[in-house]
Amino acid sequence: MNKRIITAALACLSFLSGCAADVSTPHEKLSFWIVPDLHFLSESLYDENSASFQYILSTNDGKMIEQMPEILEALKTEALAQHPDLILFPGDLTFNGEYQSLLDLRECLREIQSAGIKVLVIPGNHDIAYPSACDLSGDEPITTKNISQNDFTETMKEFGYENSISHADDSFSYTFEVSDDLWITALDANTEKAPGSLTEETLAWAEKQLNYSSKHKIRVITMTHQNILKQNELLYQGFIVNNAGTAAKILKQYGVTLNLSGHSHLQHTAVSGTLKDICTESSALYPLGFGIISVDADHRGMTYTKQLFDVSQTEAEKRLNETLNRQIMPFLKEKDIPQEKAEAMAAFASEVNLACFTGSLSDSSSYEKSEEWKYWQQYAGDSFWYLYLQQILQETAQPDSL
Ligand SMILES: [Fe+2]
Repeated sequence: MNKRIITAALACLSFLSGCAADVSTPHEKLSFWIVPDLHFLSESLYDENSASFQYILSTNDGKMIEQMPEILEALKTEALAQHPDLILFPGDLTFNGEYQSLLDLRECLREIQSAGIKVLVIPGNHDIAYPSACDLSGDEPITTKNISQNDFTETMKEFGYENSISHADDSFSYTFEVSDDLWITALDANTEKAPGSLTEETLAWAEKQLNYSSKHKIRVITMTHQNILKQNELLYQGFIVNNAGTAAKILKQYGVTLNLSGHSHLQHTAVSGTLKDICTESSALYPLGFGIISVDADHRGMTYTKQLFDVSQTEAEKRLNETLNRQIMPFLKEKDIPQEKAEAMAAFASEVNLACFTGSLSDSSSYEKSEEWKYWQQYAGDSFWYLYLQQILQETAQPDSL
């Protein structure tokens, strides 16, 4: 059902719209960037050498937290040079929901937007009422002000919500009119009253929007933080919107063919019937980069590509590898496996997992024939980790469906 996006400096997938745009006037080509899960931590809230920050680094999932100012600078430089029409930030803008992080990030987004590049944001689960917002400047983390739903709306309304043609009353969901035949509808599933779900009120609002757009042959691309479709058959709980089934049904009913999401921190496209959900990997993790949707002049054809930042890639790869090793070694040590083989199995799992996160695994046959995979079958064939790796390898052997 799924197929990984092959990520290279510019790996390209193309897909034709199933939605015909009924316009006779010529349009310009458009370019949208997708920058998910920045998890930006204000520089005023940590000291790189503090015990609390070092602890977070050693237990985190490989985010390049302290490199984020450099990554944002690279994003800004690229944006000003290439001048995309829109940059979408589908949530988890802040590290752990610190209000100060949101204020600092707003300055960067304002610089981009003031250059004539429209910035659209929605909140992620880390951005609203997150309980772990902390100052990491000292030995111990100290609680700092987090972001209420109202704080988020007030701070970020200039990025999409305020200039929308319509917005929901109970969430940061809105429709941005890109052109007379193309809308972007942002669907916020991270409200205080229903974290992780699209509320009934928001869904009713969305349905009204889509009913109008389908009648008027306006193509709609939706954006969510959590995924609308399962990006991994084994690991999807907590990654998809709680009521994703209902949401997907509505999107399909009204002819939406593309949803853009983040949250899972992996590069993957899920497909269900006519609907595709492209999950773009976190811009804070290896390989540090962002997605690009290029829209043809007739607004019918689109391509999705990745562009990588030319900063900190070596360190980011090392950090992600270490993170994956840290997760898998304790499991292998519990089993009675010779040390040398356990290390080979861990290295194998890290490599496959890394390829899964980055979407760079296009041919799994060499992995399946390897000695290391035989060790996995022999020593841990009944384990969750084995099933998880097997699922990745089997999926990538399927033909490309895009
Ligand atoms: Fe998230």
